[in-house]
Amino acid sequence: MKAIAEAPSKAIITGEHFVVHGAWALAAALPLRVRVEVSQAPSLAIRSDRFEGRDSPELRPVSRVVEGMARQFSVTPSVRVSISSEIPEGAGLGSSAATMVAVASAFSRLHSLGLKVDELVRCSMVGERFIHGRPSGIDPTVCAYGGVVLFKRGSKPRRLSMDGTRSLIITYSGEKRSTKGQIGRVSVMRERFPGLFAMLAGAVSELGFTAAEKLRQGDMEGLGRVLAINQAALETIGVSNEAINGIVDLLGSLGCYGAKLTGAGGGGSVVAVAPKAKEKSIVSGLSARGFETFKVKVPTEGVRSWLER
Ligand code: MEV
Repeated sequence: MKAIAEAPSKAIITGEHFVVHGAWALAAALPLRVRVEVSQAPSLAIRSDRFEGRDSPELRPVSRVVEGMARQFSVTPSVRVSISSEIPEGAGLGSSAATMVAVASAFSRLHSLGLKVDELVRCSMVGERFIHGRPSGIDPTVCAYGGVVLFKRGSKPRRLSMDGTRSLIITYSGEKRSTKGQIGRVSVMRERFPGLFAMLAGAVSELGFTAAEKLRQGDMEGLGRVLAINQAALETIGVSNEAINGIVDLLGSLGCYGAKLTGAGGGGSVVAVAPKAKEKSIVSGLSARGFETFKVKVPTEGVRSWLER
């Protein structure tokens, strides 16, 4: 018997970095998914399609999640975990969070723990902290719940209801980056300019609520303006870079309403919104310039798991 779980990737629509320090942020699950299979084994063994050979050190956070859950729920950690992922790594699209959530979900299913979504998020945070240091929890929250979520550290996530007609355009810069390093840079900036940082964090929280409203109403032009303002705040705290700024400008010149970096920045990906009639030509314009780019519909389903013989 094996347990299988699949979890979606994510894009932060507004509020990355500021969310680590208590601001509200808005995030959406994306259809690229990770699949995890867990079955009984003589000892804990982890395999991923990303790494050759077994038990690569890169997979240590997965062991942390399994061992933490085994201890907490008094079950055996001796399982075989196989991971296969469509989510580019280091691209700001939640590859690690989706993996940790799917591992927690499949492990829970194998041992019939019956964990609820918020408990899966809590279990997955053991791996997320191991990788990123002091993450806010927004990434595993949106990967677990799916859909579109307003998130603030320590508050119950607020899920937005909407039909499936809204699209986002995601463009990967091709530059990998470390979330942990980026979080560290922002913390230094916050210590140097606490007043300025607090002011920006307040404004970015406000942007999260405005973005949620615009998205719910289908006012993509309004949402585009919000993205552009948020990008300016992210540039101010030093997490954008030349590659990202170049893509944001290019998206603007191709007719997008607005664009910003998504995730930790310093590379990674850009999220944009555009008039419906231009979405296709924008995606092909970016692809023609060599960028991995795709249009996604929101909302998308969160983590799900099942048993198979
Ligand atoms: C990464 O997707 C988002 C950050 O705000 C980190 C976090 O909230 O954990 C940069």
